Amino acid sequence: MKDFKQTYGPWALVTGASSGIGYEFAQQLAALGLNLILVARREEAMEGLAKGLRAAYNLEVRVIALDLTEPEACEQLNEATSDIKVGLLINNAGMGAQGALIDTSLSRQRRLLALNCRAPLELAYFFGKRMAEVGKGGIIFTSSISAFIGSPYIGNYAASKAYELYLAEAMQFEMRNRGVAVQALCPGFTRTEMTAKVRAKKMEPSEVVGESLRKLGKKTIVVPGAKYKLMNVLVKWVFSRKRATRMIGKSLEKGKVG
Ligand SMILES: NC(=O)c1ccc[n+]([C@@H]2O[C@H](COP(=O)([O-])OP(=O)(O)OC[C@H]3O[C@@H](n4cnc5c(N)ncnc54)[C@H](OP(=O)(O)O)[C@@H]3O)[C@@H](O)[C@H]2O)c1
Repeated sequence: MKDFKQTYGPWALVTGASSGIGYEFAQQLAALGLNLILVARREEAMEGLAKGLRAAYNLEVRVIALDLTEPEACEQLNEATSDIKVGLLINNAGMGAQGALIDTSLSRQRRLLALNCRAPLELAYFFGKRMAEVGKGGIIFTSSISAFIGSPYIGNYAASKAYELYLAEAMQFEMRNRGVAVQALCPGFTRTEMTAKVRAKKMEPSEVVGESLRKLGKKTIVVPGAKYKLMNVLVKWVFSRKRATRMIGKSLEKGKVG
């Protein structure tokens, strides 16, 4: 990846950088020599990360503490970074909501939509425009393996991830002659705060992020790990959608997850 900084630098903006997959994106991008803008709500966690990265790689790192569910947040982020060239957007911040839809809190489901759909849409709009003007760049949406099938008990979450997957696929085509690569990263269970209570074998964020960055510009939909690639092939070619949804529903109903 010797040309990575040239193609996707000099700055990368990572949302959800205070923990998990976003934290790992920040670390791997810093190792590739990109300056960083870290965005999430927990300022202290990001300041700690920024301090370590500045010292290890001699980079510029800006921390912007922001709640991305706020209606004006993405516009504020666009304005706050208007003085620098952002060549890579990692649309990664996300949240889940478990339970049968009508048994959950509607305000949580609305926040989920704002964070998992509206914010990535607006950031892709603002930063995609800026990248197209320079004729290069990249956008990664952290979608999920859940994007591929209707998933009972995490229905709105899976639907929000399908939104990101479809948006990324469409944007990849639209941006292909404007020098901007777009990727939907679709991980399965990964060891982060989000899956702290999940009793299943999990991938490491380093594996997930490593595969995403290696494949940026080469593959639009990235499903990290052999197990999840196989699962995806089975869902697509062997099981019917109805059967796959039923299997997910039965497994979440039994409380295997959560
Ligand atoms: N872990 C998995 O198994 C898995 C699998 C597939 C896809 N994903 C996706 O991966 C992405 C990252 O999740 P993760 O697994 O790394 O979980 P995580 O450790 O819980 O990270 C979530 C990140 O999103 C940020 N965030 C949450 N609400 C926010 C808000 N209102 N405004 C701004 N930032 C907010 C959090 O920071 P603050 O709390 O500091 O705001 C945190 O940095 C998500 O989009 C998730 O859907 C995860």
